[in-house]
Amino acid sequence: MIKIINGREIAKDIRSEIEIEILNLKNRNIIPGLAVILVGDDPASNTYVRMKQKMCAELGIRTKDARPNSNISQEELHALIEEYNSDNEIHGILVQLPLPDQIDENLALSKVLPEKDVDGFHPANVGKVTLGEGGYVPATPAGIIEILLRSGNDPAGKNIVIIGRSRIVGRPLLNLLTQKRKGGNATVTMCHTSTKDLSFHTSKSDIIIVAAGTTNILDASMIKEGVVIIDVGTNRVEDSSKKSGYKLIGDVNFDSVAEKASAITPVPGGVGPLTIIMLMKNCVIAAGGSFK
Ligand code: GUN
Repeated sequence: MIKIINGREIAKDIRSEIEIEILNLKNRNIIPGLAVILVGDDPASNTYVRMKQKMCAELGIRTKDARPNSNISQEELHALIEEYNSDNEIHGILVQLPLPDQIDENLALSKVLPEKDVDGFHPANVGKVTLGEGGYVPATPAGIIEILLRSGNDPAGKNIVIIGRSRIVGRPLLNLLTQKRKGGNATVTMCHTSTKDLSFHTSKSDIIIVAAGTTNILDASMIKEGVVIIDVGTNRVEDSSKKSGYKLIGDVNFDSVAEKASAITPVPGGVGPLTIIMLMKNCVIAAGGSFK
């Protein structure tokens, strides 16, 4: 029987640890503060931001937000970031991605003060994390490692395939999973859109992490018996039985792999809740909190 890994439960455990640290900060008269910049009105980004802000409210993290129109100029966006860089009530700044085409994303992200870059996208943080010298770990990769450790699937010594080489998930994960420390020590293969024979790699893998942004990229014919699958995909598909008119599905053909895999994260309720809670953790660290 396949085990469905409950991301909501794991996130709840981490939330309890965060709540303790927020209380410690409160005793030092510090209220963590997160600023969110959401450019334009992309529906998926809107949903993510709403969920992040709801969690901040529940935890007692102060939020401020800016919602500029999608025709904002590079300079105007930099000015907004600068405003929050110099705001003493703000410890973390999140520029929701993707940004509109006229914006140079790397340039904009480099304007966030590295000590407020709770997303871990600033080159200084990418460098530190790559070198294993601290820095903010992006929330989704950090959450995936928590899922593996807390579900009894320590990556150490495992053969792992990552599908997808994005800045937000695949690249930082490749780095973290190969480091010589807790949550690392795996042998990792990175597959992407130019990989010739995906099955060749996935069929030998103990753990497969799928962050491709494409549905049905993995099915039973491509995996070995007992594999653990982490499905990072969130794809909207039409569903007239839902009030919203759509439902979320992952990148993996769930029903197909369920015959062979030993464990899988569902969509929704798998990686998603971890992505939100690990961002909260980075905000608390930015405000001066610490975790073991
Ligand atoms: N868009 C999709 N995922 C993320 C994320 O983790 N952070 C930001 N800022 N934007 C995103």
